[in-house]
Amino acid sequence: MSRVAHPAGPRHADVLPADHPPPPPDDLNALHPAIWPRGAQRSGVLTLGGVDVRDLAGEFGTPLFVTDEEDVRGRCREYIEAFGPPGASTSVYYAAKAFCSRAVLRWVTEEGLGVDVCTGGELEVALAAGVEPALITMHGNNKLPAELSRGVAAGVGHIVIDSFEEIARLAYYAEAAGARPRVLVRVTTGVEAHTHEFMATAHDDQKFGFSLASGAADEAVRRVLALPSLEFAGLHSHIGSQIFDTAGFEVAAHRVIELAARIVAEHGVAVSELDLGGGFGIAYTPDDDPPEVKSLAAGLRAILSAQCAAFGLPVPLLTIEPGRSIIGPSTVTLYEVGTIKDVDGIRSYVSVDGGMSDNIRTALYDASYSCVLASRSSSAPPMLSRVVGRHCESGDIVVRHAYLPADLAPGDLLAVAATGAYCRSLASNYNHLPRPGVVAVRDGGAREIVRRETLADLLSLDVG
Ligand SMILES: Cc1ncc(COP(=O)(O)O)c(C=O)c1O
Repeated sequence: MSRVAHPAGPRHADVLPADHPPPPPDDLNALHPAIWPRGAQRSGVLTLGGVDVRDLAGEFGTPLFVTDEEDVRGRCREYIEAFGPPGASTSVYYAAKAFCSRAVLRWVTEEGLGVDVCTGGELEVALAAGVEPALITMHGNNKLPAELSRGVAAGVGHIVIDSFEEIARLAYYAEAAGARPRVLVRVTTGVEAHTHEFMATAHDDQKFGFSLASGAADEAVRRVLALPSLEFAGLHSHIGSQIFDTAGFEVAAHRVIELAARIVAEHGVAVSELDLGGGFGIAYTPDDDPPEVKSLAAGLRAILSAQCAAFGLPVPLLTIEPGRSIIGPSTVTLYEVGTIKDVDGIRSYVSVDGGMSDNIRTALYDASYSCVLASRSSSAPPMLSRVVGRHCESGDIVVRHAYLPADLAPGDLLAVAATGAYCRSLASNYNHLPRPGVVAVRDGGAREIVRRETLADLLSLDVG
């Protein structure tokens, strides 16, 4: 389906696109363990980290993001076990773009991860959280001069170079500060991967990094090596998102290691670090079957060793940057059901008190989600539903295909799973909706880690 432009008719009038809802689940009350946070349980009502969702809604309001702290920490530990702590032979950096708050950055660093930031804003949150600057990697295709200078002054561990302009700018700030930042050169390999599919092209048509195919990547390394104020640490490649297997990484690693071999031949310099980015997939529905972290680690290691052996190179430090797979499954969005409309016996439109402003992924990427009635269990028959928000858009869909119990009523609480990544971080104030707060749950207790916005917050920005 095109998401670029569409004729007025098909989406707004009577010609509906072909729609194939999945069959209903056997048990509408069941919580699929791969989809729901590890601390989610149901004894009638849903509890998260030992806290009754009705109490959460009562105390903090809805819509509400609820994050299971132990789930996040457990996933961090799995990555550390599989890849090793920073400073050992491999490193794992949490990609803060997935969700960035001081509490979460503290949890992940306490568990041994570094943090990858891609704006000055994310950098400030990481510094405010007390993340050791040496454990911060700074990204961005257009880092502002002030951000580069802040990164250098703060002493971040790595800066990922993304353009020729940036090489010169960074060298200037490094010289002025008497610093020598470690840099990675971001390489565009021509590989794009999503779930089980990947595409490998000879050329690149996107904004990130230096193209391998055009020789820009070789030239970027040449320029970095010519500047004494920059320390060349290695190469970086990120191939996509929601990836379920390692085939795309194999092609990308082959191309990057080929470049590493050229660097040794031309400059006599070894590539000591290789950052293969993030993009590891999670389960949003029962159809999603992501690999275990340890098999992912084994796969990436094997690929890297084989590629280095083929080119007669020592194996560099392997670094990765998972975002979604650390924070995504930990979080549930709680909504209150407002209206329920049966449309021509096709399905029921269940409207909730949030929508595309707290979860744009369904509208933007056609993403799939799972949801359940959370404030009680029900033995009513399944009702094919579409969970929609309260925005002035017909594309304001949260869950495209959902089976909810037919006795669903206004005032019930609905929980949508796996909303920890790229939901609150992509949230907007569309239609002047205040953005929801984020509450962390653990051992039967709950605390707000991101305050809910208020209408007063929004009005205070309107100074005209
Ligand atoms: C450079 C880079 N690293 C890491 C990530 C994190 O990806 P994910 O959250 O899918 O693991 C992204 C996502 O866009 C990225 O662009």
